[in-house]
Amino acid sequence: GIKVVTIGGGSSYTPELVEGLINRYPELPVRELWLADIEEGKEKLEIVGALAKRMVKKANVPIEIHLTLDRREALPGADFVTTQIRVGQLTARAKDETIPLKYDVIGQETNGPGGLFKGLRTIPVILDICRDMEELCPDAWLINFTNPAGMVTEAVLRYGGIRKTVGLCNVPIGMHRGIAQMLNAEPEQVRIDFAGLNHMVYGLNVYLDGVNVTAKVVDLIAGGAGMTMKNIANVGWERDFIKALGILPCPYHRYYYQTGKMLEEQKKELAEKGTRAEIVMELEKKLFEIYRDPELDIKPPRLQERGGAYYSDAACNLINSIYNDKRDIQPVNTRNNGAIASIPDDSAVEISCVITKDGPKPIAVGDLPVAVRGLVQQIKSFERLAAQAAVTGDYHKALLAMTINPLVPSDTIAKQILDEMLEAHKACLPQF
Ligand code: G6P
Ligand code: MN
Ligand code: MN
Repeated sequence: GIKVVTIGGGSSYTPELVEGLINRYPELPVRELWLADIEEGKEKLEIVGALAKRMVKKANVPIEIHLTLDRREALPGADFVTTQIRVGQLTARAKDETIPLKYDVIGQETNGPGGLFKGLRTIPVILDICRDMEELCPDAWLINFTNPAGMVTEAVLRYGGIRKTVGLCNVPIGMHRGIAQMLNAEPEQVRIDFAGLNHMVYGLNVYLDGVNVTAKVVDLIAGGAGMTMKNIANVGWERDFIKALGILPCPYHRYYYQTGKMLEEQKKELAEKGTRAEIVMELEKKLFEIYRDPELDIKPPRLQERGGAYYSDAACNLINSIYNDKRDIQPVNTRNNGAIASIPDDSAVEISCVITKDGPKPIAVGDLPVAVRGLVQQIKSFERLAAQAAVTGDYHKALLAMTINPLVPSDTIAKQILDEMLEAHKACLPQF
């Protein structure tokens, strides 16, 4: 049987994962699922752990659920380690979402200054997990769901000392489902060639029952057909821009192509409803009340209100295909290896891959269209500098990363935001 260890197991997302494992049994015979969390997460871990136990019992599958506050107890013998941690918790996210706004810069958890700081807080913790894995389960796969997933995967590839790692995101799944719906088709009928970076991925081609329908989907999206996520405002697109682009942007591209509109939207939302972090805090409170109900033994539908809906499909499909050497195609974050010509070979990209027992094999796309190539390279340089800054604690590297981010307008504003955020987050940034 398979042993899976989930770090950050007390997360409200865990029932998704448990449901995904239940649905794939016995093709994916998980014997033990270890949910590991830290002392501050103890209460949540116990609540969600008890729900997980009721879920496997109800489904009548022999998956043992173990809970621990010491990940080193969980790791020995693991086959797959998944991470879903939030260093500094939602209060840190609220700072990432508000401080940049004071400078008229997008405040977002994985983009712009917020994304940089989430990376600075998170990367050292993930690299500690890598060190524990090297020692305790050197053959295990690290499946990283922790944001910013692209930057974190970049850091693991470059500094992590483990080779078997994959970064995951639900954005490609969300696009896939959204596009299938636009085409009145089942997701299984649709194939999309994805390439780019995490939260900066493009759909290059769409096929319906094997027929290339990219132009039709581009028209639908240009015409306003919905494709967004619960956490991103849908302000529509400039119709002729999408037609000119000729490929499919992801919902996060709105921050780059519609910066002004998104900034206005964020300011309005902040005034009316508070930050997304605060909305999520409320939602989590409700979710944990629901999870406490001893009668509940399935994943509650309210979990769909989180931006990460369907993430377990990404995680479980990946684990299933590695375990069973399925060689199907899935979009994941992995080492580029030349698949996108203008990105370094050793960098993480988000791209459609053939999933084998030896991991994802990216499907080469040559180069990206000239209109998007530069932006993708710029974000990749930002991620590389951010990862370096996270590992070294070097102020100047952090300032470089902040300044070259396309959402930050100048060196002076970059420095002001950097200084304010370093101060605000200092409890979570021991390396600085
Ligand atoms: C999307 C992204 C995730 C992110 C989530 C935020 O699904 O792909 O990386 O974590 O949105 O959702 P939330 O409900 O926390 O705002
Ligand atoms: Mn994501
Ligand atoms: Mn320096």
